[in-house]
Amino acid sequence: MNWTKRIATGAMALVLSCVAPYAFAQYYAAKAAAQAGASAGSEQSWWKNAVIYEVYPRSFQDTNNDGIGDLNGITARLDYLKDLGVDAIWLTPIYPSPQADFGYDISDYENIDPQYGTLADFDRLIAEANKRHIRVILDMVMNHTSDEHKWFLESRSSRDNPYRDWYVWRDGKGETATSKGAPPNNWQSMFGGSAWEWDTKTRQYYYHKFYVKQPDLNWNNPMVHQAFKDIMAFWLERGVGGFRFDAITTLYEDPQMRDEGVLKDKNGQPIVNLLGEPELDNSKTDNLPGVHPVMQEMRAEADKFDSDTFPGKRVLIGETYLPNVAELEKMYGPPGKPEFELPMDMQLGIINKLDVAKFRTRLTDAEDHLNGHIPLIVFDNHDNPRIDKRYGDGIHNTDIERVISTILFASRGAAMFYYGDEIGMKTTPPTRKEDVKDPVGIRWWPKIKGRDGERTPMQWDDSPNAGFTAADVEPWLPVPPSYKTVNVKAEEPQPDSLFAWYRELIRLKKTNPAFADGNNVLLDTANTKVLSWMRQAPGVPTVVVATNFTAMPQTVSLKVPGAGSSVKTLLKTPGAKEPASLRAIPLGPFGVYIGEVE
Ligand code: NOJ
Repeated sequence: MNWTKRIATGAMALVLSCVAPYAFAQYYAAKAAAQAGASAGSEQSWWKNAVIYEVYPRSFQDTNNDGIGDLNGITARLDYLKDLGVDAIWLTPIYPSPQADFGYDISDYENIDPQYGTLADFDRLIAEANKRHIRVILDMVMNHTSDEHKWFLESRSSRDNPYRDWYVWRDGKGETATSKGAPPNNWQSMFGGSAWEWDTKTRQYYYHKFYVKQPDLNWNNPMVHQAFKDIMAFWLERGVGGFRFDAITTLYEDPQMRDEGVLKDKNGQPIVNLLGEPELDNSKTDNLPGVHPVMQEMRAEADKFDSDTFPGKRVLIGETYLPNVAELEKMYGPPGKPEFELPMDMQLGIINKLDVAKFRTRLTDAEDHLNGHIPLIVFDNHDNPRIDKRYGDGIHNTDIERVISTILFASRGAAMFYYGDEIGMKTTPPTRKEDVKDPVGIRWWPKIKGRDGERTPMQWDDSPNAGFTAADVEPWLPVPPSYKTVNVKAEEPQPDSLFAWYRELIRLKKTNPAFADGNNVLLDTANTKVLSWMRQAPGVPTVVVATNFTAMPQTVSLKVPGAGSSVKTLLKTPGAKEPASLRAIPLGPFGVYIGEVE
């Protein structure tokens, strides 16, 4: 979508078309101040240009020397996060849990797992984060609970228990008094195998989209809705800045429980996954329409807590892996019935290949097909191998990480990244079955090694255990050997480090008005090797960005309508040559250039 179209759809349309140019400068100055947290208005709109940092609490900082990260560890690192320029931290689940799926199996939604601390520690974290103007965002897992949650214990205790209908129970196919019969249909767990588990006591199957210890809740039951509104209120009252809704697209299942279709290859043969199981089309268990009214309900609940003072707008983030941008757009909600402020744009995040055309299409989609909503760009999280593994070539990984982080922070919208990305932590999967901690890896080794490789302890320094825990403690996952050189302490003072690159990009995102919320317009669109775009806002200099997607040096010539050819460098890959003009920007292998058009 071009600038005219975007402002025409936005609330800013009238203002922007009437004011004189100098007023734009005032507007952007006020906005920059707001973004720095200096005015009440910013507390309502902070999320629109937010930098959100995912903390995997287990692996961030251990302060009680049990080898597992904790809340006090996060509090201890708030200054680090503040210096980096982070607006909000998203914590993966910290609630009491048997830890069968490392917290995504919750047994009590209104407390803290003793491994991570106490409610008092949590309140202190919020208070300290407040002082630094950092929001704390919690994970909200509504699709399933732990099988050890009291609701499920009740539910499985008898068929006429009041909680029976809180979960999804069905008879087996062809069940008799002596046989359980077959599972009700062909649905599969995301973690492999059937999604149905037989319960001997009450002689029915329960449904679990994920692990067997994660029974799905029944969202056709209004009491489930109320329970989660109460849970949200419990945390919102404690001052959280919002929630990230886990596995939200899998909330509903086909009420008729029909089989899912089997995906076929181009020869009409069933596609088989790594486990030798047929790939299903997910049509009866994913992205069913019921999710939208639920999210409208949750949003209305969260909105009640909005205020002009910190933490201001409480924000709903979605884990939204969806097939296309049209489905992503729906997650923002129809007019007048808002859902998520920030459903994750996984369209871009999971391209998993440096393919200029694909990136261009997905960035254009975010501009043209999200109806003017704010995209939330994200490349990395605790479920996928890190950037090095998905985008790296093994030779230029740091430069490739510069390319990806530039797309993340220099595009319009909110940006989310994963702890350790800022120093270039490497995916380090276990090499022996006995070391695996992730249930997925334990069950399917060696076909699937699980997600431990992207969850290793944060590398703070080059001391034994990398400053994550005491030297004589065994961390819950081993510290990768790379910690000797890849660590915060080593990178922080070096101007050419990846860490310095992240810090500078974030600084630009927060302080340069075109970067902060200028329009995103792709440039040089026939180029198959370099992805270039500009950020344009009225009354301020346009910023151009060029990223080389190849290992060969490239030179790009950019044209900004209405502007000359001189350009002032804001940031470039260390060691790169200065461009003579906008018409000849030299880029080394996987080089990046960011400049202001004069
Ligand atoms: C998505 C989470 O990110 C993942 O870690 C978890 O295993 C599943 N949802 C199930 O909750």
